Amino acid sequence: MSLLNNLVLKAAKGEKTERVPVWLMRQAGRVLPEYRATRAKAKNFIEFVKNPELACEVTIQPVDILGVDAAIIFSDILVIPEAMGLPYQMIEAKGPWFEKTIKTKSDIDALKIAEGEDLNYVLKALQLTKKELNNRVPLIGFCGAPWTILAYMVEGSGSKTFSKAKQFLYTEPILAHQLLEKITQSSINYLKSQVKAGADMIQLFDSWAGILSEKQFYEFSLHYINKIVQEIKPLVPVTVFAKDAHYALNKIADTGCNTIGIDWTINPTKARNEAGKNVTLQGNADPCLLYAPEKTILEETHKMLNEFGAERYICNLGHGLYPDLDKEKVKYFVEVVKSFKFN
Ligand code: CP3
Repeated sequence: MSLLNNLVLKAAKGEKTERVPVWLMRQAGRVLPEYRATRAKAKNFIEFVKNPELACEVTIQPVDILGVDAAIIFSDILVIPEAMGLPYQMIEAKGPWFEKTIKTKSDIDALKIAEGEDLNYVLKALQLTKKELNNRVPLIGFCGAPWTILAYMVEGSGSKTFSKAKQFLYTEPILAHQLLEKITQSSINYLKSQVKAGADMIQLFDSWAGILSEKQFYEFSLHYINKIVQEIKPLVPVTVFAKDAHYALNKIADTGCNTIGIDWTINPTKARNEAGKNVTLQGNADPCLLYAPEKTILEETHKMLNEFGAERYICNLGHGLYPDLDKEKVKYFVEVVKSFKFN
């Protein structure tokens, strides 16, 4: 059955849309009191992610409450390390933590290549959400880009510099490539299963692209992103969000991905010039804009939308919503985008 609101999908495919489509990274999250209430029903974050009914509930909340034009499945990029044999914990107010990390060849050899069925709980959540959404909006599936996943597997936690992960690239480049290859194969298996389970489009999150040099980004990140895009693009539209890698927009476009996600540190005109005309751009409001008074949100958003223009554009933030933003301001931003008319 066709979707009732397919604006995001149409924009990703380069088709004209009646208005600017909008969704928000981290829309299923702590900014919504309703999310916090559902989360309180699970023992901890991981139990929450592994519960398809609860995951489905919080995936649909932002569609109902914020009026966004797409749902993104509630899960985490760290389910892939776990499926490969590196379990994680999500420590309250601190973030992810891995008991075991990757240091040696035997650590890499011990990892399994994940298959779709290793992530059955995500697939069930997708199936259930697809059914419950009843074709109202597209459902986005996702995974982390291989470099960002390696960064967590080697570092063992979040970090400002990820210096252990970068040290690994400089001291063990061959092992790094072996690990990236295993993560890539696991991600391809996982994403193909997500599509079978109902994902209408896929986004790759390379959240830590920005800590690599340009040369390292091409060698250790984009090479593997490209492999994933080639496998998934024939199935559904693919978005690549490589945070802070502006210098690479033309090369990211060369992968043939449908959409490139951009953060707020590049302006729309420059991003379009770099990326070329054959790709959709997604972004790029600073999440901190939503701390501003409504008048500022309105003016800045209108400026941004006029600069991106009507063609090949999906409105979003330049990174995820912060948990302490006011839900009403987030709603206001979505309304401003949905009621916008080009000059
Ligand atoms: O709405 C959505 O965007 C869908 C769900 C989603 C989550 N994580 C849920 C989540 C998505 C797409 C992610 C991706 C993710 N996870 C990324 C890439 C995107 C980005 O932000 O750069 C990364 C780097 C992670 C790893 C991760 N997960 C960290 C570092 C943290 C802790 C930081 C924090 O915000 O607490 C998480 C936890 C997490 N994942 C939360 C949510 C809603 C918060 C946990 C909670 O409920 O307390």
